[in-house]
Amino acid sequence: MNDETQYDLTHTKHKLIDKAGKTVLDQQFQGQVFTCTEGTEEESFKRLVFGTNRAYAPGAMRVKKGDFLFLINLDSDLLHGVFKAASDAKINIDLEAWGGKYPYQARVEPVGEIVSLKNAKKLLKQLGIRRSVPIGKKTVIRLLELYRPGILSTNQWFEFLTETKAESTVTAFPKEIKSWELLGEIRKTDNDAVGESLTLEATTLWDFPKQSYGKTPKGNNKYPGVTPASLIWNLVWRYTEPGDLVVDPMCGSGTTLDVCKEEGRRALCYDIVATRPDIVQNDARKIPLEENSVDLVFVDSPYGDNIRYNEHPDDIGKISSETDRFYDELEKVIKECHRILKPGKVLGWLIGDQWVKSRFTPVGFKLYDRLTRHFETVDIVCIARRGQASHTGIWYNRARRFNFFLRGFKYLFIMRKQGSQPEKTRPREIKWAYYPRQNEAKS
Ligand SMILES: C[S@@+](CC[C@H](N)C(=O)[O-])C[C@H]1O[C@@H](n2cnc3c(N)ncnc32)[C@H](O)[C@@H]1O
Repeated sequence: MNDETQYDLTHTKHKLIDKAGKTVLDQQFQGQVFTCTEGTEEESFKRLVFGTNRAYAPGAMRVKKGDFLFLINLDSDLLHGVFKAASDAKINIDLEAWGGKYPYQARVEPVGEIVSLKNAKKLLKQLGIRRSVPIGKKTVIRLLELYRPGILSTNQWFEFLTETKAESTVTAFPKEIKSWELLGEIRKTDNDAVGESLTLEATTLWDFPKQSYGKTPKGNNKYPGVTPASLIWNLVWRYTEPGDLVVDPMCGSGTTLDVCKEEGRRALCYDIVATRPDIVQNDARKIPLEENSVDLVFVDSPYGDNIRYNEHPDDIGKISSETDRFYDELEKVIKECHRILKPGKVLGWLIGDQWVKSRFTPVGFKLYDRLTRHFETVDIVCIARRGQASHTGIWYNRARRFNFFLRGFKYLFIMRKQGSQPEKTRPREIKWAYYPRQNEAKS
């Protein structure tokens, strides 16, 4: 950075410009806050690794080398900084750290002496920062400014932050505690999102208002029966690790491919009619992969012959789900999924029931019966049906008037291929809940 350079860090313009008005620092300027407690803090400093668990992994794994990182101690309420990511985030960078409890990690290096800001939770709230969620450029700059040593001007401080490599002699432990309230105006910066941040679903009821998320489309929302991308995202983050292999044998417009690409998983996707070059044309009843080779299979199969996907004669979506043949053909797909999955790994299968011409078919229950012949059940999730052609006023009216129901949900069956070692089950202690009757409660 030469002497000509001027930084403009006013609250309206967060960019670094030279005298000619050219942006000189349009580089990556992303950040993230990791979390520790009194019990885990020392190890973070000694090992110079920040880590987190599965619940926060999706955000943490977006850390790129060079990002500005901070560490909040939830017990002391201090926010330690400034650190730079010395590596992209990876799983198990340091296998021994925290006894393996926080395997989603980034290696860090302190930039100068570490300083700690007081009242960290309040500060993060005011800045609109959530733990393990990428922080945008404007907010990172605002946060970095709070760490500026009094002897340096803003220009000098940002020059130091962006150009200095950490010195190996710098101690990793915090030196100074600052009260950020005295240092400047603190407020949330609008329009500073780095991207949509999804969180893992915690219950068995999932409702995604939009088919896709984030800046890039996932699959094609015009494709008939396209899967909500967030559903696949949830399966990917729950049941695979970065680098794992995901297979979708009936992938339609390729939603699984796009989600996996963004989340750092390998994906092989097939369909009876390939809709794009990265999809391989193949019949799901014979998948060209070796047995025990796949970490997750996702299937959003036809639910019967209600949707015309293509003209291919082997499209299972041409068979009525009112016939046994439909389930026989899907069972061939189930067997293939079982064959290619590694022991202990998971198959997610999305399907819905059918109500056509006053006739109800419990497609979900019938398919589930076939699935349980080969897999053990992990769980069953209810997926809210959105974007249905029948979800219009006129159909709602008909459903009430003629006394039937529109399909409101689908099933997501989460099934596990038996592992080589049977799962350890702990003996269950039965504790009866006892509710005293009213009279008893008074006495
Ligand atoms: C519900 S759609 C999948 C939607 C997809 N997950 C997406 O997000 O675009 C079902 C797919 O199954 C495919 N299909 C039907 N029979 C098949 C078969 N025998 N082998 C492979 N794919 C098949 C259809 O072509 C259709 O694309």
